[in-house]
Amino acid sequence: MNEGLVIYYSRTGNTKFIGEKIAHELGADIEEVIDKKNRNGPIGWLSAGKDALSHSKTEIAESNKIQSEYDLIVIETPIRLTIQMPAIRT
Ligand SMILES: Cc1cc2nc3c(=O)[nH]c(=O)nc-3n(C[C@H](O)[C@H](O)[C@H](O)COP(=O)(O)O)c2cc1C
Repeated sequence: MNEGLVIYYSRTGNTKFIGEKIAHELGADIEEVIDKKNRNGPIGWLSAGKDALSHSKTEIAESNKIQSEYDLIVIETPIRLTIQMPAIRT
């Protein structure tokens, strides 16, 4: 059993920045959730918003850390119109 894990999704870097600070303070592992859909540029911006608003899931990259057991897991997501991002919902 590991102590702590910070899991985050970040499209433009803000959530990553905060996640790195939290992981550093806790001495925790950190893992980015990778959305396999292309969320770059204006089209990606729109599709991320549309998928968030429709409460859709997406395809995320495999992660060994996310499948491991931890005592504490911190999950971070950017918010779109009060709704969590599809990669974190998935
Ligand atoms: C279309 C849109 C809607 C947003 N809606 C919210 C919201 O409802 N609540 C909130 O706190 N932030 C909202 N935000 C701000 C983002 O959550 C914020 O910019 C976040 O830090 C982006 O994270 P990232 O840089 O890790 O991708 C919104 C941003 C966009 C572009």
